[in-house]
Amino acid sequence: MTQEDNAANDLPGFDMRGFTVADKTSAYDSDEDETPTGGDPAPDAAADDVTDDAALADADDDDTDADDTDEAADDDALDDDDAESLADPSADPPANVSAKRRKGKKALFKSAKNAVKAQSQALFSPIKLRGLTVRNRVWLPPMDTYSAFARDGKPTPFHYQHYVSRAVGGFGLVCFEATAVAPEGRISPCDLGLWDDDQIAAYQWIVRGIKEAGAAAAIQLNHAGRKGSTGCFAVGVNGETVPESEGGWRTVAPSPIAFGRQAEPRELSVDEIHGIVAQFRAAAIRAVAAGFDVVEIHAAHGYLLSEFLDPLTNTRVDEYGGSLENRMRLLVEVTDAIRGAIPSAMPLFVRISATDWAAGGWDLNQTIETARVLRDHGVDLVDVSTGGILPGVAVPVKPNYQVPFSANVRSKALVPTTAVGLITKPKQADRIVRKGEADAVQIGRAALRDPYWPLRAAAKLGVGTAKAPYQPQYVRGAF
Ligand SMILES: Cc1cc2nc3c(=O)[nH]c(=O)nc-3n(C[C@H](O)[C@H](O)[C@H](O)COP(=O)(O)O)c2cc1C
Repeated sequence: MTQEDNAANDLPGFDMRGFTVADKTSAYDSDEDETPTGGDPAPDAAADDVTDDAALADADDDDTDADDTDEAADDDALDDDDAESLADPSADPPANVSAKRRKGKKALFKSAKNAVKAQSQALFSPIKLRGLTVRNRVWLPPMDTYSAFARDGKPTPFHYQHYVSRAVGGFGLVCFEATAVAPEGRISPCDLGLWDDDQIAAYQWIVRGIKEAGAAAAIQLNHAGRKGSTGCFAVGVNGETVPESEGGWRTVAPSPIAFGRQAEPRELSVDEIHGIVAQFRAAAIRAVAAGFDVVEIHAAHGYLLSEFLDPLTNTRVDEYGGSLENRMRLLVEVTDAIRGAIPSAMPLFVRISATDWAAGGWDLNQTIETARVLRDHGVDLVDVSTGGILPGVAVPVKPNYQVPFSANVRSKALVPTTAVGLITKPKQADRIVRKGEADAVQIGRAALRDPYWPLRAAAKLGVGTAKAPYQPQYVRGAF
C-alpha cells in the first residue's frame, strides 16, 4: 500500500505499511467498562467453530434492539462516560431561570450530546487495503451455513438471500463461509466449494448482489483436514464423522491424531501437501473469476492449515513439522501460491487462531511471529480468532475476549487486523476501532439475528442517514 492510502484511515497514531496504529495495547486489556464479564461456560468449539451461544445470550443486552425506536430513550441510552462532562439539564433549575432559558439549555445539552455522538464515527470510516476501499469497518465474518444441500458445493438462492441481505444491511465487507478447495476439504457434505470451474457461475450473481449493495465481497478458502466429513443439520449426524456409506470420506491431517470422537485421519505425504497448495491456488483463481474482492485463507479453528501450525496436532519430523518455521511452511506456501495468482490490487487475508487455549500448544507469541512472516509474504490483514483446534479446552468466553489478541497482533506484527467474538454493541465495536485494537470488527451471531446491525449501529453512534450505509430505497425508513 502507498502512503496516500492513509487518507482513508482516519485514526491517529503511527503509520506502518500504509495503516495506522492508534495506540499500543497490552495483552488481556479488555474494555471492561463497556462489556461486563459473563463467566460463561466453555464452548464446544469442536462442533461449532464458534464460542458458546449461551454466552452471547447472557451477555447481550443488545442496544441495537429492533424495538428501540423512541428517540428520547435513544438519547438516554448515551453512556455515562460520554455524558459526564456535560451539565445535567434534568437537575432542578434555580428558581430564577425562566422556562425559555431552561428550554434553551436543554437544546444546548442535546446538541452537545449529539456532538459527542458524532465523534464516534470510526466504525463508519472507510478503510483501504491495496486497491480496495471498504466503506466501513463493520464486517460479516465467515459463518458456515452448511446449506449446499445438493452436496455439489454450489451456493443456492438461500446463500443469495443470506449474503446480499447483510450487504443491504450495511456491512462493509461480507465474507462467504468456509469454502472448500477440494471435496475432502469440506467440513460437512453440505459445505460450499470452489474445487471445480463448474462451480464459479453459482457464486457470480451473489457476488454481484453484494457489490451492488455497496459492500465488498470476500471468500474464506478452507481445507477442513481432520475436522472434515462431520455432520450438520441437513445430514442428520452431528459432531461425529459421517460414514463413507452416507457421503462421508476419510479425512487427512499432518499427523494421524483424531479430533475428539471423530475418525482418525490419514497422514498426508509431502506430495499430497504440495497438491493441497495447488488446490488453494486454483480455488483462489476461481474466486477471482467469480468476482470476489478479497480472498481469506482459513488457518484457524483446527482445520488443516491450523493443524499444521499447532505442535499438539502436528508431530511430523519432515520439513512440515517440528520448528515453528516448519509448522508454518504450508501456510506460507499457500499464501505465496495465492498471492502470486490473484491480482496485485486484491487484498489477501488470513484467519488465524491466536491460541488453542492449551499448555504446550499454539499461542500468541507464535501467532505474532507467524503474522510477521505472513505480512512479509503479502498478507494484508490478519483476522484474529482463537480456539477450535483442540477438543475439551476451557475458553474464558466473555465480551471482547478475543480483542486483546487482535490488539497484540496488530501492534507487534504491524499488520492490520480484525477482531471478532462477542462484539454485539455499537459503542463496544466503535471503541475497539478507535482504540486501535483492530482495523475492523466482525459481527457474527448478532448478525444472524439482525442483518441490519450496521444501520442500527450507525444511528446509535450518531452517524447521519446520509453517511450511514443505506440503500437509496430504504432511506425513508431510516432508524
Ligand atoms: C453458525 C456459525 C458458523 C461459523 N462458521 C465459520 C466459518 O465457516 N469459518 C470461520 O472462520 N468461522 C466460523 N464461525 C465463527 C465466526 O466467524 C465467529 O468467529 C464467531 O461466531 C465469534 O463471533 P460472534 O461472537 O460475533 O458470533 C462460525 C460461527 C457460527 C455462529
